[in-house]
Amino acid sequence: MAKLTFHGHACFTLDTRDGTRILIDPFLSANPLADIGPDDVGKVNFILVTHGHGDHLGDTIPIAQKTDATVISTYEIVLFVQTKGVRNAHPLHIGGGYNFPFGRVKMTPALHGGMVEGDDGTHTTVPGGFLLSVDNKGIYHAGDTALLKDMELLAGQVDIALLPIGDNFTMGPDDAAQAVEMIAPGVVIPIHYGTWEFIDVDPAAFRDLVGDAAEVVIMKPGDVHEF
Ligand code: NI
Ligand code: MN
Repeated sequence: MAKLTFHGHACFTLDTRDGTRILIDPFLSANPLADIGPDDVGKVNFILVTHGHGDHLGDTIPIAQKTDATVISTYEIVLFVQTKGVRNAHPLHIGGGYNFPFGRVKMTPALHGGMVEGDDGTHTTVPGGFLLSVDNKGIYHAGDTALLKDMELLAGQVDIALLPIGDNFTMGPDDAAQAVEMIAPGVVIPIHYGTWEFIDVDPAAFRDLVGDAAEVVIMKPGDVHEF
């Protein structure tokens, strides 16, 4: 079985059947919901970063330095982490994908912001999401995004959708439920809520809005979803 483990906010560990461990948006040390710290992740092969906000870039740099994991993100974020001593990185950009040994990773559009703090000042970066094809399943991590009509292009490609529902910075429950209608995944896992007061949204209300459109799996930090 492949295993998707939730660590709170937008952070997951994905363990594929071939033994590859992938961290997505490893916001751990400053994440009030995290069930583990950055030193507890063990071996990591790849780190996927949706965008350059601290609650997504998170502990990417120290974890990559320690584990030699390959950071996969936009070209600009890859250049940035390389200036911070990350040795292995693979640049992608929106709409492009690449076949890694564990499966395919494609970057998807997100309507949001993003920035990194370089030694020479602050740089705006383009946000995205990821469409993963691993172990014969399609997994979509939307990153931080508004509702986009473009999401309907994902229909038929997504078995498990990881969608922000926290409102304020991203889609709220209503818009996220509309995204579910467009994407038509088998399973949807709500993310990016409850971390702070601004995004303190009840996932059960989201489940009610989705109704029969998909199975809503509400994960607590530390929970594992096998597929
Ligand atoms: Ni963000
Ligand atoms: Mn965020």
